[in-house]
Amino acid sequence: MNWNSQFATRTQYAKRSAVRELLKLTAQPDMISFAGGLPAPELFPVEKVKEAADLVLSEFGPQALQYGETEGIAPLRDWVAAKFSRAGRLTVRRENVLIVSGAQQGLDLIGRVLLNEGDPVIVENPTYLALLGAWRPLGVRFVGVPSDQNGMVVDALEPLLQQGAKMIYSIPTFQNPQGTTLSLERRLRLAELLRKYGIGLLEDNPYGELRYSGEALPHVFELDAQSDADGRLRSHVIYSGTFSKVLTPGLRIGWVVADEAVIDKLVMFKQGTDLHTSTLNQYVTYTLARDGVIEQQLPRLQAAYCQRRDIMLAALARHFPAGVTWTQPDGGLFLMVTLPAHLNAADVLQAAIAQKVAFVPGEDFHLTGGQNTFRLNFSNAQPERIERGIEILGQVLNQLS
Ligand SMILES: Cc1ncc(COP(=O)(O)O)c(C=O)c1O
Repeated sequence: MNWNSQFATRTQYAKRSAVRELLKLTAQPDMISFAGGLPAPELFPVEKVKEAADLVLSEFGPQALQYGETEGIAPLRDWVAAKFSRAGRLTVRRENVLIVSGAQQGLDLIGRVLLNEGDPVIVENPTYLALLGAWRPLGVRFVGVPSDQNGMVVDALEPLLQQGAKMIYSIPTFQNPQGTTLSLERRLRLAELLRKYGIGLLEDNPYGELRYSGEALPHVFELDAQSDADGRLRSHVIYSGTFSKVLTPGLRIGWVVADEAVIDKLVMFKQGTDLHTSTLNQYVTYTLARDGVIEQQLPRLQAAYCQRRDIMLAALARHFPAGVTWTQPDGGLFLMVTLPAHLNAADVLQAAIAQKVAFVPGEDFHLTGGQNTFRLNFSNAQPERIERGIEILGQVLNQLS
C-alpha cells in the first residue's frame, strides 16, 4: 500500500512544529535549552498532586474513573464559571464552560467550528506557532497585524476589519513568542472594534497569571462580555484558559468560556475527537484548585520566573553585541530577540547547538519575515545555566556579526 497517495488534501497544509522537533534534541542533559515553553519541573507541586489523586479516589471513587460528560465535570466547570463571573455585572454559568484536553484542543475545536476554507483570520505577526499549525489545515487565510512593545497595533487592525475578516486570534497578555502585553488603552479600543464590526475574538490567555512586574489588566473578554435580560452570557470574545502553566501541563486540562451557542457546537466536535477530557485528571485538577494549590503555586512561580527573567535580561545586556534588541516582558515565559537584518536565526541556531545551547528561530511564528528573530524561554533553565547559555549565545553572535 502506498499511503502517500492516500492522504487527504488538508494534510498538505500541515507542518511539523519546529518547537516539538527541537524539543527532541534539547532533551540531551548537557544542552542548555531556551527552546520549549516548559515550566520549571522542580516547581511542580508533585506532593500536592499525589495527595489530590489519593483524595479524589477516596472522595469520588469509581466516578473519577468512569466515562464522563463531554462538557467536563460539573464542579470544575463551576469553578471556572465562578472565576469569570463579576458580582452584579456578569454571570458566567456552567453552560458557558467547556473543559478541554489542554487549551490546545480548545483552539483546534474553535477553528473547526467557526472557520471555513478561505476565511481571512487576523493574527498578530508573529503569533503562537501551534495555532498556525492547528488552523492551517482548515485552509484559512491568515492576515497579520503588526505588534510592538504594547502588543497588537490596534490602529492597524481597523483597515483590515474594513476589508472583511472572519475572526481575530490574539494572545493579549505575555504573548507567545514576544512576551509583550496589550496596553489597557488598546484593550478598550479592541473591545470597541469588536462591537463596531461585529467580529469575534479568540482571546488566548495561558500566561496571564504569571505576572512579575507592572499592573494587572482586565481580559478583553471582561471588557466586552455582558449578561442579557435573561442573564445569559453575550460576548464577542471566546476565552481560552489552561491549568498548564499554573499547575502542570502534564494534566492536560484547559477550558473555553463562551456564549452557550459556541459551547454547544464545540461539544459536538469534541465528542468526535476524544468523547471527553480525562475524568481522573479533571477531578485531580478540580481538587487542587478547590484546595488552594493554585494560590500557593503562583507566588512560588512568580518569584522564580521573575528572577530568571531578570537574570536573562541582565545577561543579554552584558553579552549580546550592539545592534541586537529584545523585548522586555512583564510576565509569561518568553522574550523575543531581533538580530540585525543580515543575520539569520537559523544559522545562529546551528552554531549555538554545536555549543550546546538551543532556542527557537522566529521565522515559524511569523506569517512573513522574522528570519532575523528568535524566541528565548526563561522559565525552564536554572539561573546559572541561563547566565552561561546567554554568554555562549553572545559569543556565537559576536563570531557571526
Ligand atoms: C499561546 C498558547 N496557547 C495555548 C497553549 C496550549 O496550552 P495547553 O498546555 O493548555 O494545551 C500554549 C502552550 O504553550 C500557548 O503558548
